Amino acid sequence: MTADEEYFHALNALLRDIGGGMPRLVVDLDRLDRNLAALVELHAPEDLRIVAKSLPSPNLLNYIFRKLRHERLMVFHLPFLLQIIERFQNVDILMGKPLPLAAMRRFYRERPINDFEDTRQLHWLADTNDRLLQIVELARLVGRPVSVSVELDIGMHRGGAADKKALATMLDTIRAYNEELSLHGFMGYDAHVPKAPWPRTVEHASERAKKRYADLLEFAFKGWSDLENGDWRVNGAGSPTIALHHEESPLNDYSVGSALVKPAGFDLPTLESFEPATWIAAPVLKRTSGVKIPFVEKLPAPGRDTLFIYGGKWLAVPCWPEGLRENSTYGFSSNQQMLTVPRSSDIAVDDYVFLQPTQSEAVLLQFGDLCVTRGARHTANWPVFSNSGYAAGGPFM
Ligand SMILES: Cc1ncc(COP(=O)(O)O)c(C=O)c1O
Repeated sequence: MTADEEYFHALNALLRDIGGGMPRLVVDLDRLDRNLAALVELHAPEDLRIVAKSLPSPNLLNYIFRKLRHERLMVFHLPFLLQIIERFQNVDILMGKPLPLAAMRRFYRERPINDFEDTRQLHWLADTNDRLLQIVELARLVGRPVSVSVELDIGMHRGGAADKKALATMLDTIRAYNEELSLHGFMGYDAHVPKAPWPRTVEHASERAKKRYADLLEFAFKGWSDLENGDWRVNGAGSPTIALHHEESPLNDYSVGSALVKPAGFDLPTLESFEPATWIAAPVLKRTSGVKIPFVEKLPAPGRDTLFIYGGKWLAVPCWPEGLRENSTYGFSSNQQMLTVPRSSDIAVDDYVFLQPTQSEAVLLQFGDLCVTRGARHTANWPVFSNSGYAAGGPFM
């Protein structure tokens, strides 16, 4: 038996025992630990910022915080933000995208009253000067200063200041409204870099993005170093590019999330030292001999049998038993997905099949509590963030 065979055999036995006959989302802590070790080889823990949307469980984040001994997050979604500050009062939060004013206002209305100091610990992202002016309005409404980071376009073209003129306007606004705004730093994301088309190279694309970032920073420093004395957090990277910032980089604040569980969509040369740490495990409901597709029953599928599993149509790729495959002619179902296996496979009804999520941010939210394992033992069930469970309301404004 190969190492993979042994691994999934043991997980199947475990899931048959504790899976409750339901599809489960497995997170393997042994593998997560090795990914954390690979990550701190690249960057110091105090410079890492964990992307909450890609690891959307408070307990999972807490586990990572305890390993890194630092609580720093990038957050994208208001309900998650509220749940995070309820649970982690010391966390430092950079928002990964600009939010509408209505959502920012809700934060101040609904945030739990505890030791989390939003003025010091929460940094809203501003992509335009108009957004900054909205945040000025917000600061006046809530009666305290608001910390902001300025989004920069370093080549991905997803918004943010794209040139010196746009950046100068924003920095002038921050200086002009220094009672309302403080400048935490900058955020420039470079997820386009690994997609550089031939004849360009990933290395060249990365150098260009870094240079663009460094030029904008230098410009900011020359004219506006009075803002927080130029002591800025320079955020960037993400799982696809974190390894490209290992040596030379303008950054001092590195975002990463997905790489820690490495979904199939992150099977990239830059993430070679990371390993998959999450699976969908789904019970087999039916196994039938051969492959019969309505209206084309005679279509040959030599040497294959059919499975129907509990659930399906996930953002995931089949991975065990070996040779497990989808069948696009039969189609896909969220209720009972059809899959085929080689006839030689001994997978049986009530066994579990395993699929690897292609991404974590949507998939990890779809199965209720995460099924946490270590060495093929079940160690915990960890709730995921809720989309509707807001924190207890604070005073309305
Ligand atoms: C601004 C920003 N930074 C970083 C990331 C990286 O997240 P991950 O490491 O999960 O790919 C993302 C992902 O969407 C992002 O939008």
